[in-house]
This record gives sequence, structure tokens and C-alpha cells, in this order.
Amino acid sequence: MYGVKINGIGRAVPELELSNQDIAEFIDTSDEWIESRTGIKSRHISTGETTTDLAVMAAMHALKDGDIDAGSIDLVIVATVTPDSTMPSTACLVAKKAGIKNATCFDISAACSGFIYASEIAVSFIKQGNYKNALVIGAEVLSRAVDWDDRSTCVLFADGAGAAVYTRSSENKIVNILTASDGGGSDHITLPTLTRANRFNQTEMSSKYMEMNGKEVYKFATTAVPQNIQDVLNGTGYTPEDIDLFILHQANSRIMDSVAKKLEVDKERFFKNLQDYGNTSAASIPMALVDAKPYLKRGDKLILSGFGAGLTWGSMFIIWD
Ligand code: ACO
Repeated sequence: MYGVKINGIGRAVPELELSNQDIAEFIDTSDEWIESRTGIKSRHISTGETTTDLAVMAAMHALKDGDIDAGSIDLVIVATVTPDSTMPSTACLVAKKAGIKNATCFDISAACSGFIYASEIAVSFIKQGNYKNALVIGAEVLSRAVDWDDRSTCVLFADGAGAAVYTRSSENKIVNILTASDGGGSDHITLPTLTRANRFNQTEMSSKYMEMNGKEVYKFATTAVPQNIQDVLNGTGYTPEDIDLFILHQANSRIMDSVAKKLEVDKERFFKNLQDYGNTSAASIPMALVDAKPYLKRGDKLILSGFGAGLTWGSMFIIWD
């Protein structure tokens, strides 16, 4: 088995920044409601940037950050629930635009846990010796998946991309990854895809937008995430108290505070940037990692943790290099 480490990270967001006040100009909401319930103050929304555009920009930043030549990338995985097309995959489009040739490229769908799921696949493949340099990207344009007349979702979700390059290494810095799911909760967050109708079937879908049962998601996240973090640390010799920084999926400030409380860890050790970006689903963890980087030092112990539609969840325990 080979070791693996993160060797470059990057992020990208659309140019347009939309504050809570900006949204309150066209729907019945307020800065006070959004910030007190979620912690979000602002977000970036596409005025034309595609999921692929954002993914490519984040990937280029990650390659530059790690001083890695595009030609040495042999695996590209994009986690997204808002691909520009079902085929070709976003990963193939990223490879084309980033100058990556002959790599294995595919997309995965695990909603807000997508970056952790994709990382588990990439890290396992590298550890087995199949690949040397994997580009893992979480990228979303969720602004086209929400109903902009539905104040319960459109204030939460936003657009962005984050990328990480995982590289084969003599020292292993990705200590453990643990993912899971519960299809029993599949109704709690949904986003339909193509029409169901065909020549022989006129069934149409009831909604074409994202729908969420916020209370159920809140209950699920505040139960599954602390347990998953305990489980990923199990057998490593470390406890939550030993972790320098927790980088959770940036869905909701209150979810993070509740997880901190359940783990009996100071909530200041939970990194937050959702105030500036909202919930960018699969992109949020690598985007937060980029913003947290100035505060990290070599040897820091980090937990990255995602949760979302499926229901899906997963955590990674890594040592920062
Ligand atoms: N502005 C003003 N009022 C609003 C808004 C809004 N944007 N949205 C809802 N309301 C109103 C509702 O209409 C309701 O009014 P009513 O009582 O007159 O009917 C009232 O506020 C309370 O609505 P609730 O849905 O009960 O609000 P709640 O306190 O549960 O907060 C929230 C909603 C923030 C979504 C909360 O449930 C939550 O944080 N859930 C977790 C959701 C989440 O994080 N999802 C993402 C993770 S998974 C993923 O990323 C895919």
C-alpha cells in the first residue's frame, strides 16, 4: 500500500456577490432571518459561469498551488449534483479544458458529501497503486436548481467549486476516511433530473426544483455527523479533543455548533466561511479548506466532514503537510 497526501488546493466562485439584503429586495425574507437561522450573509451566484467553468478554475488553482503539471494527473473525479450535461461527464470536460490527457475521468453524485466520497475513491485508488496524482473537484451551480420564489431554499444554496490534488507519497497523511448513507431519508432533500415522460409514458414530475425538509435534515446532520466523526477516529489513537480544526460541509452555522457541543469540543475549532459563500454542496469543504489554509501548520490534525442528500455522510481524518 502506498501513502497519500494532499498536494495542492484551489477554489473558484462566480463574480456576482449577492447579499441577504439583495435577496430581500425580490422575496419576502430578511438579513436578520437568514443570518440568525443559518449564519449566511452573502453568496456568489452565476450569471453565466457553468459548473465546468468553475471546476476548471478551481482545478487550475490547485495545480498551481501544488506546482503540478496537468500532464501528470492520471485520475479526475468531479462530485456534483449540477453537472452541465449528463454526458459527457464534467470530469471529461475539465480534463479537456485543463490540458489533462489520458486520465480516467468520471463524475459522482453524493450531494453535499460528494467531496468526501470522491476523495475516498481517489485515495483508495492511489493507495492500491493504480494512480499517482488524482484531481478531486466539488463543483456546483445550485442557483439553477433552486426555485427563486421559494424562500426556504433559495436563500441557502449557492455556486462555487473547490479542488484538491491527492498525490502518492512515502508518508501517508490521509489517516482514515469513512462514508455511509441511509436511503430511508431520500425524501428529505431532492432534485429531479430529466423528464420522466417518453413516447409511451406521459408521467411528468411534480417539481423540477430542489426541495428540502429543513427540520429533518437538521436532525439527521446533528445526529449522524458527530457519530461519524467519532467512528472515523476510532482505532487511530486520537479523539475529537486532539483535532486542531474541523472543516464541515458549510450548510448551517447552527449545525456546526451543535456538532461541536456533542463532541465536547470548543466551537471555535470549527472553521466557517458559509457567511461569505452560502451552501455550495459538494464544493463547500474544499472551498473552506482553501480559506482555512493560512491558519494551518504542518502536522495539524484535521477532520473534513460532509453530509447531505441521499441521505449521505462521510468524514476524513488527515494530517496537514
Ligand atoms: N425568510 C423568512 N422566513 C422564512 C424563510 C426565509 N428565507 N424561510 C422560511 N421562512 C419561514 C417559514 O415560512 C416559516 O414561517 P411560518 O412559521 O409562518 O410557517 C418560518 O420561517 C419557520 O420555518 P422553518 O422551516 O420551521 O424554519 P427553521 O427554523 O426550521 O429554519 C432552516 C429553516 C434554516 C432551513 C433549518 O431547518 C435548517 O437549518 N435546516 C438544515 C437544512 C440544511 O442545512 N440543509 C442543507 C444541508 S444538506 C445539503 O446541503 C444538501
